[in-house]
Amino acid sequence: MFDQLRQEIDTVLARDPAAHSRWEVFFCYPGFKAVRSHRRAHKAYLKGHYFLARLINYYSYRRTGIDIHPGATLGKGVFIDHGTGVVIGETAEVGDDVTIYQGATLGGTGKDTGKRHPTLGNGVTVGAGSKVLGPIVIGNHVKIGAGAIVLKDVPDRCTVVGNAGRIVRGPVLRPDIDLNHGDLPDPMLEKVEAIEDKLEQLEQMEMENEASPHNCAACPRADCPDRKEKAEGT
Ligand SMILES: CC(C)(COP(=O)(O)OP(=O)(O)OC[C@H]1O[C@@H](n2cnc3c(N)ncnc32)[C@H](O)[C@@H]1OP(=O)(O)O)[C@@H](O)C(=O)NCCC(=O)NCCS
Repeated sequence: MFDQLRQEIDTVLARDPAAHSRWEVFFCYPGFKAVRSHRRAHKAYLKGHYFLARLINYYSYRRTGIDIHPGATLGKGVFIDHGTGVVIGETAEVGDDVTIYQGATLGGTGKDTGKRHPTLGNGVTVGAGSKVLGPIVIGNHVKIGAGAIVLKDVPDRCTVVGNAGRIVRGPVLRPDIDLNHGDLPDPMLEKVEAIEDKLEQLEQMEMENEASPHNCAACPRADCPDRKEKAEGT
């Protein structure tokens, strides 16, 4: 239990440069409190204690301004910064190491039943005031810009901004954990290809030289045999 507490405090310290100490995070961070309360509410929800789960959620919402439905699933290292106005719906699934800023909504469009809220991969950033709506899938390490309204799936490592959300960047190779070795540049292969091109050019020049008649006047060789022959002949 204490390990989990320490890990959640350290998550905030690592991701918010404004946080100075564990005490500060523990007592003064609404996002931290909301996530802790949600973990209790979610346990109660899973055991079928729906009223208790809702009660925990309600008091947490009153204290923090962050409304996380007890049915929502949050991964490890979720950080809600500032927090006020964040809403996370019942069937939302949030991956590990996700950062959510104030005013963001992981909600439904009102058209779906059953699974009706988004699924977020790991390492996603959800910008302030953005709305991610419907049972869509947001890939790993996606950045959702502040104020974006996202209604469609977003592939891994993209940045999506605007209303309606459009992909402006990506997929980006971010150095943190990109393991797609097939896409990495191969400097040795590039060098070998450059040498092959050069050889081809030289061969081409040599063939052209052989085909054209020798111009002694322009020949740079002092011991040019053609020039010697010509001089002896005259
Ligand atoms: C989207 C964001 C994550 C940056 O991601 P990025 O991959 O580094 O993207 P860039 O900054 O290179 O921007 C890419 C393009 O999107 C535009 N853009 C960036 N954020 C935008 C936003 N929120 N809304 C609209 N357009 C945006 C940029 O101007 C740029 O446009 P250009 O290519 O025409 O110049 C960041 O701008 C953002 O919105 N972060 C949210 C953080 C937040 O909510 N903070 C609140 C703290 S209190």
